[in-house]
Amino acid sequence: MTSPSAVPPTAHQMADFYDALGPLLRMSWSDNFHLGYWEGPGDGSSPQEATDRFTDLLVSRLGVGAGDVVLDAGCGIGSPALRLASLTGARVVGITISRQQVEQARELAREAGMAERVEFRYADAMDTPFEAESFDAVLAFESIVHMERPTALREMARVLKPGGRLVLTDVFQPQPQEEEATDAGPFDPAFATIREEDSPDMTSFVRLDDWPGLVSDAGLVLDELTDVTRNVEQTFARMLDGFLDHRREFESRYGVRLEQVLDSAKLSAQPNPASVGCLVMAATKP
Ligand SMILES: C[S@@+](CC[C@H](N)C(=O)[O-])C[C@H]1O[C@@H](n2cnc3c(N)ncnc32)[C@H](O)[C@@H]1O
Repeated sequence: MTSPSAVPPTAHQMADFYDALGPLLRMSWSDNFHLGYWEGPGDGSSPQEATDRFTDLLVSRLGVGAGDVVLDAGCGIGSPALRLASLTGARVVGITISRQQVEQARELAREAGMAERVEFRYADAMDTPFEAESFDAVLAFESIVHMERPTALREMARVLKPGGRLVLTDVFQPQPQEEEATDAGPFDPAFATIREEDSPDMTSFVRLDDWPGLVSDAGLVLDELTDVTRNVEQTFARMLDGFLDHRREFESRYGVRLEQVLDSAKLSAQPNPASVGCLVMAATKP
């Protein structure tokens, strides 16, 4: 494991991180707070199209339909959960550690006329209030990057019904050197973060080949582990362009400078795509 001693941020710190960044992402990226998926270098899809495509790719792996109930662990403002529900007919319960996101997600569900079928709650995905075996499938879309992975995976396995699927994405460091990895510091899926002495690592990361062990230790059976780094790498430059393109509009609407938001979210305006890999993982509870 690359960063076994990394301590996840507190719930409060995580909520502050996303509450600072969320308005900027909504204005300049998409309501999907995840990486985009492009078919190749010539794919000119917009961030909205590319992030929706990534959602669809994960949804297709969940294997759910009408009558099923899915947990979306780390649901952001609910955009993937709403898309999942409308594509499959399943009911979805989205949880996030940000109360602001819960409110925004509920609002989006009401606007979409889907509040009956898609519910959002404040909860910690590492220690949920749900009974064992409550869900037919669990989705964790770019959220386990912020969690203590073994704890989160055990909890996701606990709430899954036997035969249920867990589908997630994670970030990893491509071709890591053990010493470099340990010293690499925190990083965000989109931007290298600035390490500050008393600040937590918002994101930790492991190696791709740590995943089979993580999955089996959680009592799950690995079905798929796919490296999608090449498909997501456009994200970094596109997101930065989006931030810069919307700088004036953002600053006048919210009365804060772009740099202040990036600083408060502990992000640097220097994208560091070379250090970011992305994987898709699917596993089944026996
Ligand atoms: C990169 S965003 C992805 C959001 C959403 N899955 C999407 O694709 O739009 C990570 C999400 O994980 C949530 N999160 C982080 N730690 C969490 C925890 N311990 N429990 C629940 N949610 C958490 C954050 O609040 C945020 O909503």
